Amino acid sequence: MTEAGRVLVVVPTYDERENLELVIGRLRAANPDVDVLVADDASPDGTGEIADRLAAADPHVQVLHRPGKQGLGAAYLAGFAWGLERGYDVLVEMDADGSHQPEQLPRLLQALAAGADVVLGSRWVPGGRVENWPAHRKLISRGGTTYARLALGVGVHDMTGGYRAFRASALRALDLADVASQGYCFQIDLAWRAVQRGLLLVEVPITFVERERGQSKMGGGIVREALTRVTAWGVQHRVEQLRSLRGRAADGAPSRQG
Ligand code: GDD
Ligand code: MN
Repeated sequence: MTEAGRVLVVVPTYDERENLELVIGRLRAANPDVDVLVADDASPDGTGEIADRLAAADPHVQVLHRPGKQGLGAAYLAGFAWGLERGYDVLVEMDADGSHQPEQLPRLLQALAAGADVVLGSRWVPGGRVENWPAHRKLISRGGTTYARLALGVGVHDMTGGYRAFRASALRALDLADVASQGYCFQIDLAWRAVQRGLLLVEVPITFVERERGQSKMGGGIVREALTRVTAWGVQHRVEQLRSLRGRAADGAPSRQG
C-alpha cells in the first residue's frame, strides 16, 4: 500500500531479455510497496521465462503471458483489465527497457495522491528531458505531440509518453473496451479520452533515458497509425464543436434562464 493506494505497475515486454531483470530490480528497490505485472507477448528471446523466474522469487511480481505480438496497446489493455479485476487503486504504465526510471515513480504517485486522475510523465515540460535520443526520434516525438495538440486542441505537452499513472476510477471512465489503437498511438488515445471525459491530467517532468540494450520496436507502421487516427479524431472533434455551436445558435443564444 502506498499513499496513493494499492499500485500495480504494468510493464509490457517484447524481446527485453537484456533489460527486464535489471528494471524490475530497480523498480522493486525504489518502490517496495508496489506490485508489478509483466505483460509479455510470447517474446521469441525468452523474456517470458525470465519474467516467470522473477515472479517465482518475488510475490510482488506477476506475469501475463499473451499468445503473440499484438502491440503495446493490446498488452496494456490486458494488463489494466487484470489489475482492475483484482481491485488495484492505481495502474501504472512503464517501459521495460530502462527509459522510464523506476526511481521517478514516487513523483508520479505523489501527483496522483495530491488529486490528479491521470499523471503523465512528461519529457516536454520544464524539468523534463531526454537523454541519448537520436535527432530523428526527438523530431518524431515533438512533432507527434505538436500535431496531436493542434489537431485535438489540447494543452498536453507530451501526448505520446509511456510513463503514466491512472486512478482505477479514471481508467474505468475511459471506456477501454472500445480502444482500438495498437501501437504507441494508444498513448495519445488514452490522453485524448481523459481530456474529453473532463478528468484532471497532471504532467510531471521525467528524464527519459534511451535504452542501452536491445532494440526499439517503433516503426513506420506505428507512426502511420498515429497520424491517421489523430487526424480522424481531430476532424470528428471539429465537426462536433460546429454541431454544438449550431445547436446553441438554433436554441436562440444568448439564452437566459429564470
Ligand atoms: N507486450 C508488448 N507487445 N510489448 C511491447 C510491444 C508489443 O507489441 N511493442 C513494444 N513493447 C514494449 C517494449 O518491450 C518496451 O518495454 C515498451 O513496450 C516500449 O517499447 P520501445 O520499443 O522501447 O519504445 P520506444 O522507446 O521506441 O518508445 C518510447 O517512446 C514512445 C514515443 O514517445 C516509449 O516510451 C513509448 O511508450 C512511447 O509511446
Ligand atoms: Mn524504449
